Amino acid sequence: MVTASKQLSGRRVLLIISGGIAAYKGLDLIRRLRDTGLDVRCILTSGGAQFITPLSVAALSENKVHTDIFSLTDESGMGHIRLARECDLVLVAPASANIIARAARGLADDLASTVLLATDKPVMFAPAMNPVMLANAAVQENLETLRKRGYGIIEPGVGGTACGEIGSGRLAEVPDIVTIVSDFFLKNAPLRGFKALVTSGPTFEPLDPVRFLGNRSSGKQGHAIAEALAFAGAQVTLISGPVNEAPPRFVQTVQVQTAREMLEACLKSLPVDIAVCAAAVADFRPEDVSDRKIKKSGNDPVSLKLVQNPDILATLSQSNQRPKLVIGFAAETNDGMENAKAKLAKKGCDWLVLNDVGGGKVFGQDSNIVTLLRKSGNDIASDTWAEKSKKDVARDLVAAAVAFMGKPA
Ligand code: C5P
Repeated sequence: MVTASKQLSGRRVLLIISGGIAAYKGLDLIRRLRDTGLDVRCILTSGGAQFITPLSVAALSENKVHTDIFSLTDESGMGHIRLARECDLVLVAPASANIIARAARGLADDLASTVLLATDKPVMFAPAMNPVMLANAAVQENLETLRKRGYGIIEPGVGGTACGEIGSGRLAEVPDIVTIVSDFFLKNAPLRGFKALVTSGPTFEPLDPVRFLGNRSSGKQGHAIAEALAFAGAQVTLISGPVNEAPPRFVQTVQVQTAREMLEACLKSLPVDIAVCAAAVADFRPEDVSDRKIKKSGNDPVSLKLVQNPDILATLSQSNQRPKLVIGFAAETNDGMENAKAKLAKKGCDWLVLNDVGGGKVFGQDSNIVTLLRKSGNDIASDTWAEKSKKDVARDLVAAAVAFMGKPA
């Protein structure tokens, strides 16, 4: 069980500790952030390393400390890009006048500034410097630039600074920074209080102990949707067919093989508020499953009798525990729009995500071109989105779901 004090477990903060005497408070900050359950990864700038050692940062964060943009081991896998993306929040604390200026200007001359440019995650700066420096018009202008671009600024406190001057410039108190970070995770969760169910991947329908009927679904899109729903605060159950994708973070994943197992797991997870059926469920399964490997016999043709599988999307849409929002997918090779509209009506779901899978597109790839069809009364609204990564499709679909769901009952 996750205790209240560890309620941010599984979330990751990338903490950039820049130069300044307040860097020593960065060490306490690491501990306090970790007390909430957060995983803390750290970048120590060369300025920061004048005040505290990488060893103490590594020991307190229990993670490798990143200091150098040109580290060969890190960069062999485009380390700075991964570092910038594989977190949920970037926190610069203490933020020196120098890093604030470089971020405002868009410089990328060390690891910290490069990561700040490369990240697609929210960023917060907690400035700390001499009061006269902070009051300087250049610094104020840079902070204003960052604010306007949507960066969070954790206002410095008033009081004595290490240089003996009194005024505004002290790093905000560590517990206050931790509260702001916790609030960010807890309040920025528009689907908190909602439950969601996602199906993903293919199903494998056995024919004999070694063979099955399957399909090329990678599970990338469904898994990304499950993770995006969880990031938005929903309690998510992912029911996944056999895939190579790692189970997403913050999600309860149930692994199944066949369509019938997938249906059973879906029904078990009801009631939910949102169901997204992204799995490529096999429409048919062999009627008989041999308990021995089927052998060739001469050159005789082999025929296979297939029977229909249950339709999970239709079952959920017509269930007496119907989720408020049911989203289906339609992978079509031709006449996409026409087929999708017919499918929306036939299955009884609310929205349908149409994607064109003609010519080997989509399956296993990282990007997707989709059209979202939304039924509202007798009307169907359709939006075609420009090609984007499956993660971005997931994020935008979840944003649309947030707008649709309103507040939990
Ligand atoms: O009919 P078709 O397979 O094209 O429909 C695709 C949509 O229906 C997808 O959302 C898929 O997850 C869902 N589906 C299902 N159970 C089936 C077949 C499809 O949930 N047996």
